[in-house]
Amino acid sequence: MHVNLQYMLQRHITLKALNTFGFDAEASLFLPVADIDILKKVWKTNLLSLSSPLILGGGSNILFKSNYPGLVLHNRLSGKEVVKETEHHVWLRCGGGEIWHNVVMHAVQHNWGGLENMSLIPGTIGASPIQNIGAYGAELKDVFEELDAFDLLHGQMVKLTAEECEFGYRDSIFKQSGKGRYFITHVTLRLHKNPEVNVKYGDIAATIAEWGITRPGIADVSRAVIHIRKSKLPDPAELGNCGSFFKNPVVSKDDADKLSAAHPDAKRFDQPDGTVKIAAGWLIEKAGWKGYRRGDAGVHAKQALVLVNYGNATGTEVLTLAHDIVEDIFTKFQVKLEMEVNTR
Ligand code: EPU
Repeated sequence: MHVNLQYMLQRHITLKALNTFGFDAEASLFLPVADIDILKKVWKTNLLSLSSPLILGGGSNILFKSNYPGLVLHNRLSGKEVVKETEHHVWLRCGGGEIWHNVVMHAVQHNWGGLENMSLIPGTIGASPIQNIGAYGAELKDVFEELDAFDLLHGQMVKLTAEECEFGYRDSIFKQSGKGRYFITHVTLRLHKNPEVNVKYGDIAATIAEWGITRPGIADVSRAVIHIRKSKLPDPAELGNCGSFFKNPVVSKDDADKLSAAHPDAKRFDQPDGTVKIAAGWLIEKAGWKGYRRGDAGVHAKQALVLVNYGNATGTEVLTLAHDIVEDIFTKFQVKLEMEVNTR
């Protein structure tokens, strides 16, 4: 592809439509990346070293504190392709700019299982490995095969396996030692051709039973997840938000037992490794923040883990509210909340 950066680079672009909080932040420089050659070309300039570039996907996990003074690389790589097939599996390779939910729908339509529990998660597939997205009993890492990325440090394409991605709960190498280093160009998923449904998550089983479906397929699970999400989580098109603002804190069994002793109704999920995950939504609700509003920044009335922008809040206002919540939760429960959302 012939790449002429002069024509592609845009200056002083508002990112309002490109972040689901709807903050009116401006990027000094903006480059849509629909082809790997663009990355190769930009690497040869001094644009990347002048300021650390920000890689943007669907903007559904980012809070802009102010304008972004550097270069924003917007992932627009497209394509969904079956690259390998066996009796039981297909390997689907997708361009990093593809909308995650569209990939899920594509898989459900072909009856390829593994993604249905993660229906309607906002964002792009290229961003999905960053925080190892997950919902309703499934995580990206369960279906992840490998990814291709442009290494902004060495200026070359690399492949990373699941092991190399170091996936954890809402965590990966891309949030740790590899932060900001990799532009994920393609993600390959390994999906099941004879899928078994996963309805372990109580809400899904209840919804399916309510609908009178006795032998659910993956399309039913997907519909149930969409139904549940729509009933609890605000649609970013109507109310700015980034889904869960905080992670569910993982604490030691001792600390969880202390919390349970003081609050027998605390929602806790004992993990196989002996640690305990505490429902942050429960902590925030219990502390009285659910439905709280300060100016245009608020805590969602139906899911306390979600912070919202009612219209004209700034990133700083939402962040100040988040810090107040973290401090209050620590005072009341001695549990430290960590943000899931990235700030810039
Ligand atoms: N809860 C409350 N009050 C609230 C919210 C939740 O008491 O305001 C309690 C619920 O009653 C339940 C427990 O907390 O017992 C868990 O709630 P829920 O099932 O809604 O899930 P979550 O732990 O709050 C996580 C993910 C979501 C994902 C859901 C479903 C994280 C940080 N969040 O939320 O992911 O959709 O499970 O699997 O792990 C996201 O990451 O953006 C996201 C939406």
